[in-house]
Parts: sequence; structure tokens; C-alpha cells
Amino acid sequence: MSVSVLVGSQWGDEGKGKVVDILSEKYQVVARYQGGANAGHTVEIGDKQYILHLIPSGILREDVTCVIGNGVVVDPQALLDEISFLEKNNIKIDGRLFISHNAHLIMPYHKLLDSLNESGQKIGTTGRGIGPCYIDKYARKGIRIVDLLNKDILEKKIRQNLQEKNTLLKKVYERNELDVEAIIAEYMEFDKRIDKYIKDTPALLNNAIGEGKSVLLEGAQGALLDIDHGTYPYVTSSSPTSGGACTGSGIPPTKIDSVIGIVKAYTTRVGNGPFPTELLDEDGEKLRKIGAEFGATTGRPRRCGWFDAFLVKYSTMINGIDQAAITKLDVLSSFDEIKVCVGYEYQGKMLKAFPNDVDQLDCVKPVYETLPGWKSDISKALKYEDLPQATKDYLEFISKYCGFRISLISVGAKRSETIVM
Ligand code: GDP
Ligand code: IMO
Ligand code: MG
Repeated sequence: MSVSVLVGSQWGDEGKGKVVDILSEKYQVVARYQGGANAGHTVEIGDKQYILHLIPSGILREDVTCVIGNGVVVDPQALLDEISFLEKNNIKIDGRLFISHNAHLIMPYHKLLDSLNESGQKIGTTGRGIGPCYIDKYARKGIRIVDLLNKDILEKKIRQNLQEKNTLLKKVYERNELDVEAIIAEYMEFDKRIDKYIKDTPALLNNAIGEGKSVLLEGAQGALLDIDHGTYPYVTSSSPTSGGACTGSGIPPTKIDSVIGIVKAYTTRVGNGPFPTELLDEDGEKLRKIGAEFGATTGRPRRCGWFDAFLVKYSTMINGIDQAAITKLDVLSSFDEIKVCVGYEYQGKMLKAFPNDVDQLDCVKPVYETLPGWKSDISKALKYEDLPQATKDYLEFISKYCGFRISLISVGAKRSETIVM
């Protein structure tokens, strides 16, 4: 029995979906604890590709119970679309998916405000209404999943919220007001379809642990997008780091056994913000092309660069990562030489600690160690011993520098293209 947290160690899109799918063979419950449909977690099984936004990636294994935890912000339409997509693919949902009564609902005005805010300070958000929904949660004005169960309360809360939001839209953004009655009717309909999934999920999760079941907490985004520990303000509005797993699920810290960091063998970022090892040359283009680095949610091209070990070492500290899954190692196979960033130079001096102050981060010069490439196809490797010596040297370098042990190596998008250590 074990309770593990799986976190993205960089700026998201590390391959969390694939690794959750692999690991969930050994877990009975998989739970999301933060974020919302801004996430895009890809799982490839045979010729079929599944992109999950809200539902945990464990849903593709029929024995696994899936939970959308209290820390998640739920767009009901996105949820219903995802359920329909899975059911069309013969995946049974009923009786296997539970949504926390305390999770907050994304409302139409959250999505609208997300896009309107972007015309000012450009973060490059996914436009899914995530920031505005968390704003309402912390302002204690949010509408929660549990409110769907009481029509009077739901209607009252929607009216209250829209009064304020419509004033904002009209006076500040000079936009048309939203139709209150239409939104009430729309959310009353959601209630009919979502009721059966609503549950006291902290109790469900703690009971499962009490019964000796293994629970995997699936983080979305990544540590450097964390509202507290990331490259603020170029972050998301939740806590993807391992600390967020407890508050976002209701599982206490004393029950967590392990933190698994998902570490992409190079670095990517989608959206704006500093990125010291970004490559704006042919090598960056090559990483994007071979790695198919286009957003799973928005389709935007991802910015690409060399592996930033200085950043991942910081992430390892913040998350308490004790084991890592290295992903997309195959993407590096055609490079003659591979660079790894081992520190930042700032105003002529080497920095001792990772600076998450963006103004400083914008001006740092990455200092690289150059390692030889392996120049051979590693996607068929089934065990560690099958890998070329130069690949092993790269992995050992990363593991030693960042201070974690490597427990899984991913050499392709498919389930079969995985080395479990
Ligand atoms: P997530 O958000 O962390 O779940 O990652 P995404 O699904 O957004 O992006 C990862 C992309 O890389 C997806 O298209 C995966 O199918 C793919 N992928 C995952 N692991 C590997 C790997 O080891 N090698 C290659 N080539 N692709 C991978
Ligand atoms: P997964 O779970 C990569 C980025 C956006 C933007 C910033 C804020 O697939 O790894 P938001 O819509 O959350 O307010 O946008 O965060 N972002 C992600 N980048 N992977 C993700 O999720 C992301 N979710 C949000 O691009 O820069
Ligand atoms: Mg993704």
C-alpha cells in the first residue's frame, strides 16, 4: 500500500499523463488535486490517443477509481464533453468517477474575464477561466459543486455573482452584460447530469487508504507554474507542487509516502515568462519537431530548450521529489552533443540558489556542461542495460546533480516504450 504524489517538475507537459497511466496499474485510486481543464494529459495506448483535461489519467484502466479533488476547478461542460468522449471509446465512467462536493465551478464569466484580462498583462493563459475562478474561491464568492444539489442556493449565488460581474463587464470592460436567466438554466441542467458523481471525496480517499488501497495523486501543470514557487506572475493560479496535493485532496501529509517527479529530458514552456535555457535556433526547432511540442489543450507551439538541471534541483527541493520518471529521452537521440544547465551567472557571479524573481531570471546567463550524444534509436530499449553508455551517463549526471533516484525512463509516447527500474 502506498500513497504517492506525482508532480510535474518543470513548466508542465512533462509527460505526466503517460506516467500516471503506467503507474496506475499498481494503484487502486487516482486523484487530481488542483488546476482544471487548462491541463492536457496525453495517454497513448496502441494506435489510440487520449487527451485528458479534468478526469484523472487512471480512468483508462478499468479497475481504477478516479477522483476530482476539492482543489480542482471544474468546468461542467468540459467535464461532460470528456465523459462523452471516454464513453464513446467504451470506457465505463459511472461508479468509477467521483467529484468533490467542495470543488469550485468554472462559470461562463470566468472564461470571459480570463480572455479580457489577457489583453492587459499577457500571461499567455489557456483561456479556460482558471485564474478568475480561483480569484472567486479565495474571495469567498465561488460557486461549488455542492451548490448544484440545492436549486435555490444555486440560483441565489448565480444571481449575486452576476450582479457584480455584469457591473464589471459594463463599467470596466465596456462589454455587454451576460444573460442571468440563461446561465441559471444552463447550470440547472448540469446538475441533472453531474449529481451522480458528487461525493465527499476526502472521506472516500482516507477510507480507501484505511482499507489498504494505494492512492496516486496526479498533479497538473508543473512546479515552476506554482502560484507560490513558480515564476510569478507567469504562473497558474493553483499549487501544483506536492504541498498542494494535501490541501487539494484532503489527504494529510502524514499519509504521503513518496513524491514522484516527472522530469522531461529537456525543457519546454508554453505561454509567456522567463526561460533561461530556451533555444531560439535550429536546435530549439529540432526539439519541437521531434518532440511534437505543441500544446495538448490549446495547440500552441511550445518553447523548447536544453535541460535545466539548476531549475529541476530547485523543483526537487520544493516538492521533496525522492524518485523521478525521466520522459522523452528518445527526443535527444539525434543530437551530437547535449547541453545541461548547471548554474546561472548573474551580474558576473554564479547564483547560489534558483531565483524565481522574474526580473532577475530574465537576465541570468545559463552555464552549461556539454555531454556527448548517443546518436542511436533508444525507443526499443526494454531495460536499463539496453541503453547506450552515453545515455546512461546523461541519466546518471541528471540524477546525481538533481538529487533523486530514477525509477522510470520513458523512451516513447506508448505504454510499451517504458523502462521501469
Ligand atoms: P502532461 O501534460 O505532462 O501529461 O504532458 P502532455 O501530454 O501535455 O505532453 C507530453 C507529450 O509527449 C504527449 O504528446 C505524449 O504523448 C508525449 N510523450 C510522453 N512521453 C513520451 C516519451 O517518452 N517520448 C516521446 N517521444 N513522447 C512522449
Ligand atoms: P499540464 O497539466 C503547460 C500555463 C499557460 C500559462 C500559465 C497560466 O498539461 O502540464 P492558466 O490557463 O493556467 O491560467 O495559464 O500556465 N499552463 C500550462 N502549461 N502545461 C499545462 O498543464 C498548463 N496549464 C497552464 O500556458 O502560461
Ligand atoms: Mg499537458
